[in-house]
Amino acid sequence: MSSALLGLTLSILVQVPWVSGQNFGGSGSTTDGFSWVQPLNTTILGQYGHSPAVYPAPLTTGKGGWEEALAKANAFLMQMTLDEKANFTTGQPGPCVGNTLPIERLGFPGLCLQDGPLAIRVADYSSVFPAGVTIASSWDRNLIYERGFAMGQEFRAKGAQVLLGPVSGPLGRSGYAGRNWEGFAADPYLTGVAMEKSILGIQDAGVQATAKHYIGNEQETQRNPTYNDEGIITFEAVSANIDDRTIHELYLWPFANAVRAGVSSVMCSYNRLNGSQACQNSKAQNGLLKGELGFQGYIQSDWGGTHSGIASVKSGLDMDMPGGLGNYGLINDGHSYFGGNLSIAVNNGTLNESRLDDMVLRILTPYFFLGQDKDFPSVDPSCADLNTFSPRSTWLREWNLTGERSRDVRANHGALIRKQAASSMVLLKNEGNALPLKAPKSIAIFGNAAGDDTQGFYNQVNFEYGSLSVGGGSGTGRLTYMVSPLEAIKTRAAKDNALVQQWLNNTLIATTDVSTLSIPDTPDVCLVFLKTWAEEGADRASLDVDWDGNNVVESVTGFCNNTIVVTQSSGINILPFADNANVTAILAAHYTGQEAGNSIVDVLYGDVNPSGKLPYTIALDSNDYNAPPTTAINTTGIEDWQSWFDEKLEIDYRYFDAHNISVRYEFGYGLSYTTFAITGNITIKAANANARVTALPEDLPVVPGGNPALWETLFEVCATVINNGSTTGETVPQLYLTFPNSTPAGTPPKQLRGFDKFSVTPGQTRDVTFALQRRDISYWDVVLQQWRIPEGDFTVFVGFSSRDLRAAVTLNALSA
Ligand code: BGC
Repeated sequence: MSSALLGLTLSILVQVPWVSGQNFGGSGSTTDGFSWVQPLNTTILGQYGHSPAVYPAPLTTGKGGWEEALAKANAFLMQMTLDEKANFTTGQPGPCVGNTLPIERLGFPGLCLQDGPLAIRVADYSSVFPAGVTIASSWDRNLIYERGFAMGQEFRAKGAQVLLGPVSGPLGRSGYAGRNWEGFAADPYLTGVAMEKSILGIQDAGVQATAKHYIGNEQETQRNPTYNDEGIITFEAVSANIDDRTIHELYLWPFANAVRAGVSSVMCSYNRLNGSQACQNSKAQNGLLKGELGFQGYIQSDWGGTHSGIASVKSGLDMDMPGGLGNYGLINDGHSYFGGNLSIAVNNGTLNESRLDDMVLRILTPYFFLGQDKDFPSVDPSCADLNTFSPRSTWLREWNLTGERSRDVRANHGALIRKQAASSMVLLKNEGNALPLKAPKSIAIFGNAAGDDTQGFYNQVNFEYGSLSVGGGSGTGRLTYMVSPLEAIKTRAAKDNALVQQWLNNTLIATTDVSTLSIPDTPDVCLVFLKTWAEEGADRASLDVDWDGNNVVESVTGFCNNTIVVTQSSGINILPFADNANVTAILAAHYTGQEAGNSIVDVLYGDVNPSGKLPYTIALDSNDYNAPPTTAINTTGIEDWQSWFDEKLEIDYRYFDAHNISVRYEFGYGLSYTTFAITGNITIKAANANARVTALPEDLPVVPGGNPALWETLFEVCATVINNGSTTGETVPQLYLTFPNSTPAGTPPKQLRGFDKFSVTPGQTRDVTFALQRRDISYWDVVLQQWRIPEGDFTVFVGFSSRDLRAAVTLNALSA
């Protein structure tokens, strides 16, 4: 029996006997009078690793601004037949990565769902933007929005109503996870902001955003079940076993931001959560997402992530993607757990039609809300040609592809991408002001990431030669061009009439005495370009740079005492060469998108003053990290893939801080060509001086994002930043909170709860104000099932990284 069905037999609608007048226990009501109740007592709530049942699926109310769109959706629904409704909830093979059927008689064109989080992947003449981890490193709300908006414009112009991104699962529990680069930061606060800004940007361009992968999708290994030749499951998908507090304070947190931003869709993930497939986990979908967070849109499955019909429907899943029934669902044969099966279920009484209606309404409402019923471009026919996922041979019907083929949708986005990637670069080391370069006359370039790609631009695996500007899998992009670092440096160096020579073979460099490589003059600077591949479907085997990069650096530094290393990486790299005195600078560029070389050169030559900050921690040794992906399960039990998130809240810097472990470069760290300081004291003022702050939020009706009281700003923290260096630059003041001693054990020593980014000229001071919302200063009380502000003193730190805290002040929130 599947876990969800098992859950059904235990189905509980717990009443809350001993609590009155207070919305304890995760109970609530929506405006149509529907009430949802989540179990309170921890026995029912389930032991760690068990997912309690939460039924029924909450109905949409349109609350939070979608009321008018919901009314239109309702009017549309009234005209639909049962079969039309059932088919509305499933995908079918067609021109896009995901397709829903048109209903021609009602003028509905069907939905085109396209990957992914950094580009419209299955399309030509479109742009490849910086990856999630890259733009998160900018810590720049405006840039994140700008990137989302520009991507949304391209999706719209290509006829895709739905963009399959942004990503906040994985969050980055482990640096080894193969898809961290698609997401943002190993911190819920920064990721939450990035989700919100991305979604607002995408949806302001008229395209539905999809927050994915919900939830606990923190590794690729065994993310899906293993099947034998007869199609029988031999191993269930890995189960991410996460306790209630950790879910709320880490993994659910950014999804709450996404729902608050009005995200249209949420994609449930492949893995199991606490023993139950994520896409049929009623606690996660009915309880947390639609209940507690008041999500009004639709939950779609990851591709093949649906493993049942009615159990999933009752557990809150609204759309089966891509609609095939094969293993992993990847045989897109047009059969679906949903579709016709739901008509049968309604007719035989297994499924109440009101649930099917709600599924349809949830899918239709964002469509009307974003005005997609008016003048939306048709799917570009070239998308169908490029779609290897459901090629024409698999189609079950003709798709009417009209409109211009191969539309060029790139506009001026190349310039934006160049700027975005440059603003995201993290300068990790800069000894003796090695950077910016000062018109060097002789430049030696090393490393296989410097030059042009030699194996084409799309669908390569970890290729040896060429600049790496994007990772692999569904989150990749189809480059129309890529400016390599070598090309960009040659162009720039020509202005100085400089000599540029290159050695791009890592094996040769790593195994040769570089002084024997016929380098005519001692170069002014040696630039080493290294890369690190990551892709969907596989976790990283190592945190080192690829292609023997560490030895490449050793070799070059044996010859060159001004060696500057640039990494193009999916995320965390251990950088043993950072101690090498001949390595004068290290620049982490991450996956830059199509303008790679230009963005890097802008920073190297100082046209852009670096301002990126690490969205994760770089440890001294890979063994210093905790919480690796679960691998090497050597037993044969079908349930044996269990991943216990025993570290609870201690991921990334929270772990290093809790255990006082020295690190190489901490979360939030990044250098500039100038320097900044906090001047004067930091001050705190209550947002509402007349109201006393209560430990628990007022019990307000849930809106998208949850109880609105959680988003209320309670305190404002002000600090002043000065640029005490000699160049104009952008700074990122950061606010970290230490919770009072009364907070339950396991609370991390410091947690990011505010940041801002702005430019300051030399000698200038600028004030920064951080707004602390109720959620920011609360912990999740597992007994009360409520966000609670603890008694006692918080310490509020302001500084320039998680370990560079320049000023502090205490705050007793409850007696302020
Ligand atoms: C990925 C999703 C993606 C989907 C469609 C899945 O394998 O996990 O992120 O959107 O494929 O390509």
